[in-house]
Amino acid sequence: MKIVSVVGARPNFVKLAPVHKSLSKYCDHIIIHTGQHYDNEMSDIFFKELRIPEPDINLGVGSATHGEQTSEMIKRLEIEFGCNQRECREEGVSVASKPSLVLVYGDTNSTFAGAFAASINNIPVAHIEAGLRSFDRRMPEELNRILTDHSSDMLFAPTDTAVRNLKNEHVAGRIINSGDISVEVVEEAWKFSKNSTVLKELRLEPKSFILFTMHRAESTDSYENLKTMIETFKDLNERKIETGSSSPAGKQKVSSSGDYSPHAINSHTRHCLQIVFPVHPRTEKLLKSYGLYEELIGCENVIITKPLGYVDFLRLIHESYKVVTDSGGLQKEAYLCSVPCITIRRSTEWVETLDQGWNKLCAFDKDEIVDLVLSQDPEPKMNNSRLIFGRGNTSEIIRDAIIYRYNKK
Ligand code: UD1
Repeated sequence: MKIVSVVGARPNFVKLAPVHKSLSKYCDHIIIHTGQHYDNEMSDIFFKELRIPEPDINLGVGSATHGEQTSEMIKRLEIEFGCNQRECREEGVSVASKPSLVLVYGDTNSTFAGAFAASINNIPVAHIEAGLRSFDRRMPEELNRILTDHSSDMLFAPTDTAVRNLKNEHVAGRIINSGDISVEVVEEAWKFSKNSTVLKELRLEPKSFILFTMHRAESTDSYENLKTMIETFKDLNERKIETGSSSPAGKQKVSSSGDYSPHAINSHTRHCLQIVFPVHPRTEKLLKSYGLYEELIGCENVIITKPLGYVDFLRLIHESYKVVTDSGGLQKEAYLCSVPCITIRRSTEWVETLDQGWNKLCAFDKDEIVDLVLSQDPEPKMNNSRLIFGRGNTSEIIRDAIIYRYNKK
């Protein structure tokens, strides 16, 4: 049985890792990289760190508008799948030709391109992380999720909410409540993150900093938002805060195995929170084009880094006082690491993280963000946290369901 995984962006690679490990023993697992992300820090480092073999095929599509990028991916995928009668590969028949199943992950343009190129040619599609909805159709990811789910034959839903969303939309494919693949990703990567030297390299004390990320078009395409971000950093530089075992992040539990439960916190001290900001290429480009990059560099409490690999990044999540982000996946990773998160967005697809107070949505407003960063809320409850996102055996559930359904054909 030949199964093709289509990936292209950072969050796709992360989810691919455990699925490849689980599937490759049982089938011919071919990896196609669309080339959506191409920088070493955005792509290669994830393959190396997460022990994923190099992609069998790289389509090299690169950056473009959503429409251009996605349509170019679809066109090239059709050729690889052997479904384009007019154009053939110069190198002859592709290793990805005529697969039994195409696997896609998450909600990026590469996800939808893979699902559409396969389903339009009657190749079955399985979607990992199906059924998530922010109900904000202005996000390209929301459209990618909806379109991918309605193109899929097997829908691996990470949570009960995702199952409900899919049922409400009457999707045609089979829905499987598989739990969330990130539970495994985080557990596996933590084995390496424990030994990461990133804190030492950045001269950081545990729980003395905020981990900040921002890369979504809705956030970064506006001068006002980027200016507000810098003003927020400057405001936080004026504030002192006590971090210690009374902080919400003080008691943490993540793993049933117990060996990746975090650190004790240092004695209580009042200090100014530092801000660690790994800057996405899109954000850097926009900051420079708006003439704001120098002002950001000038913020003395901000440590700017290039995009980080998963191992160092996970260590930073664990050791941060709070996470502030506009990312989807990071909200849940913070939750799995029991670190409070502030999400600068109107909505989230990971609604479970809100229920228990670990994650708070807020507007692009300096005072609101500062208040949430400084607030020392009572410790949120971690009720059955692991069960909300499954038991950490999602890749086995996915493998077994696929083999049961397609190996006979
Ligand atoms: C994509 C996903 C988003 C995910 C994010 C993770 C979509 C619609 N969005 O957004 O859901 O959270 O990946 O990072 O698929 N660039 C580089 N080098 C790279 C990649 C990108 O310089 O290796 C720059 C380019 O200028 C590009 C811009 O970043 O135009 C945006 O990249 P793109 O892949 O279009 O989307 P992301 O913002 O990364």
